[in-house]
This record gives sequence, C-alpha cells and structure tokens, in this order.
Amino acid sequence: MNVMVIGSGGREYSIGLALKKDSNVNKLFFAPGNGATTHLGENIDIKNYDELADFAKEQGIDLTIVGPENALVDGVVDIFKDKGLVIFGASKAAARLEGSKIFMKNFLSRYHIPTAKFIETTNSQKAFDFIETLNLPIVVKADGLCAGKGVIIAQSKEEAKEAVTDMLSGKSFGEAGLGVVVEEFLDGYELSLFVICDGNDYKILPAAQDHKRLLDNDIGPNTGGMGAYAPTPLIDDILYKKVEERVIKPTLEGMKKENSPFEGVLFIGLMIVKNEPIVLEYNVRFGDPECEILMPLLKTPASELFYKAATRNLNKLTIEFYNKYAIAVVMASENYPYSNSKPAEIIVDKTVHELQLEGTHISYAGVSLIDEKLYATGGRVLLCVGLGDSIKEARDKAYMLCGQVHFAGKQFRKDIAYQALKQ
Ligand code: AMP
Ligand code: GLY
Repeated sequence: MNVMVIGSGGREYSIGLALKKDSNVNKLFFAPGNGATTHLGENIDIKNYDELADFAKEQGIDLTIVGPENALVDGVVDIFKDKGLVIFGASKAAARLEGSKIFMKNFLSRYHIPTAKFIETTNSQKAFDFIETLNLPIVVKADGLCAGKGVIIAQSKEEAKEAVTDMLSGKSFGEAGLGVVVEEFLDGYELSLFVICDGNDYKILPAAQDHKRLLDNDIGPNTGGMGAYAPTPLIDDILYKKVEERVIKPTLEGMKKENSPFEGVLFIGLMIVKNEPIVLEYNVRFGDPECEILMPLLKTPASELFYKAATRNLNKLTIEFYNKYAIAVVMASENYPYSNSKPAEIIVDKTVHELQLEGTHISYAGVSLIDEKLYATGGRVLLCVGLGDSIKEARDKAYMLCGQVHFAGKQFRKDIAYQALKQ
C-alpha cells in the first residue's frame, strides 16, 4: 500500500522507518517531512489540508498517519474522511482532549476518572479564591495548545496568582491562555501510556518514561522531552489493570457517549501517587521522543496496525512486540529550548566495528538538507536509539551511537533511564 505521514519531526521519521521495513508498504510520502525523510520517501510541500487530501486521492494513498497535535486539532482527519480517505488520527471533536485543558478536566470529572483537584475559569477572582485553599506548590495551566509550555508550577501563592493574571490577560499565551485550570500539585512519578484506538477496541503499547527537563538529574527548564525508554519497570500488572479499568475504559466509553468516539493514539500522561494512577493530561497523538522507542519495539507490521485501527478492525489484530528494551537520547542544538541556534553540519563517524553499533539507529528530527549535506536546524535535532536485551544494554548502545554523532553545540543528557537503572 501507499502511505503518507503528516509531520516533520523525529516522531514522524520513526513512523517512516517502521513503514520502510514493512513489506506491505510500496510508496511512502511525508507532508512536509524533514531533511532526512527524503531517504525514506518523498517529501510533499502542501500546507492546505483540502489540497493535501486531493493529492492523497490522486496518488492512490491508501493510508495517512497523522503525527502532530496541531493537524488533529485543526481537523485534518475530518477533511480526509469527508473525501473517503483512510486516515489514522483523532477527529477534531476528539482532539479537544488535548486542545482544551478545560474540556479535558471537565471530561475527567464527568466520567469519574481520577485527576488532580481543580477549578477551571476565565475569572481571576475565582482562580485567586481557589489558590487560597491549596497547599504549595500550585499548578496553573493555560487552556489551549502552548507547545508544551502552558503549565506553571508555582512555588508561592503570589506566583500562582501572577501566572493566572498573565494568562487571562493574554500576556503569556495569547488566546490559549484566556481560560485557565488551577490544580493541586501531585507528588509521585510520571508514566506515559499509549493506547491505539479504533473507536471501539484498543491496544496498549509498552509503558514509556520521558525525561522532560533539559539537564541531568531532572533539573533545568522543561523541554519537549530529552530522552525516553520503554518498557519501563515502573509499572506492573496490577498497575496496568488499574489504569485499564479506571482510566482507559471509562475514557473510551465517555468519548463514545460524547459522540466523538476516540480513534488514533490516546496518550495518557499519568502521575503515580502511592501506587494509584492519576491522570495529568491526555494527548491525542504519539509522544515525541516516546514514539521513537515504541516504533522499533513493534513487531507487528506498522501498516497493518495503523490500517486496522483506521478502519475499525483492531479486534482482528494480535499486536506483538520484540522482547527488548529501547532507549532514545535526544541531541539538541546549542540554544535549545531558549532560542534558535546557527545551522551546524551533522557528521556521523563511519562505523569501524559493525557489531558495536548493531541494534542502534538515528531518528532525525530538526534537520535540513543543504547542498546535499545534513544540517542541524531545529531545537531537537536527532535521537540516538539503542535496543538491547536489558535497559543497561540499550542505554550503552544508544550512548555509543551518541559518541559517533557530531555537530557544533550539540547537547544531550547523560542519564536517560536513570530511574529504571536504580531499581
Ligand atoms: P501537562 O501538560 O498537563 O502534562 O503538564 C506538563 C508537566 O507538568 C507534566 O508532565 C508534569 O511534570 C507537570 N504537571 C502537570 N500537572 C501537574 C500536577 N497536578 N502535579 C504535578 N505536576 C504536574
Ligand atoms: N514527550 C512528550 C510529548 O510529546 O508531549
């Protein structure tokens, strides 16, 4: 079949890699792709989704897979479906689970799914009154999409009130901040769980852990994610069962009742507090860098999984994973996450010892092809991925690959998977 992937990051590159090694896949397209996806398929520069859907029809594209949330929130899935195309992703209505934190929190309350105590409001006095009732720290969230920056963990009531004022006035996040959620701080450890859904059935992927802070030991500013690993030993069968019964099933039942059955990837951000799963947030797409470790663990052909999910046939699929661990270490550019960096050429050393780098690969993200050479041009540039029979082996492989990759100003964390290795 012919497949198109919408997006341009490492997430979409890794989906492309999985499709590339899938014998069911004939032609592969990326819209818009990046400087390295051209090695896997053809990059398409069509921004308008109507036109992109027409292109998909003309080219006989059998399946489109959507990577980023913006495209989903903007309704790309509805546009493609209206034209009779098969597309894997959440509808515009279902994407509200990520597009509006107010919708999400109210949804969680309506269906009695465990979440942090909160209020949502557009009124600053109401927010201030609630802040007075909370212990420190206090969490303030902008309603809309803020590219991962819309959450403030305030260390004082004054700071929380200032965050509310700045959001509601439009100063900090424009329209995305005109509504806020104020909530209690949860103290525990975070897990990301990804569930492939077709509106009726679902398949749970191995649980992953992301490392959001820029620097080792989880300090420094929040980023899109500096590395991840899966499966994590921080979840066992009892916890899986709790998440399934208390979160996944009621979420999917709830979305059906709301007339927006959930199709696509449901990304559940959990805080585990005293062994109890509490929902921090939903996203309606794969995490990045989590996708880059889940795709190489997938044994089932990627085209089959996504096609069956997009056509309500997940019940006919037995999903299989390799019995391995995967780790991805993000290499970011010099000034990430503060500002852009100067483009820098990427050099990957020639492999001397083939065996050493077996089970490793690079997933390219913020890269451009300039005069046939690959340059680092984005914040998160690429990911060094290692697979192994243990977390330690996967980690050693990923870091061995990091040693082979060079560009001016590169920065990366040296402690990915440290919580799991401590266990
Ligand atoms: P979110 O976009 O809601 O997942 O928030 C981004 C990050 O902020 C999460 O990954 C957590 O690290 C942190 N966070 C959000 N809400 C809370 C909360 N109620 N308690 C503690 N940390 C939180
Ligand atoms: N890695 C977290 C995210 O994609 O939002």
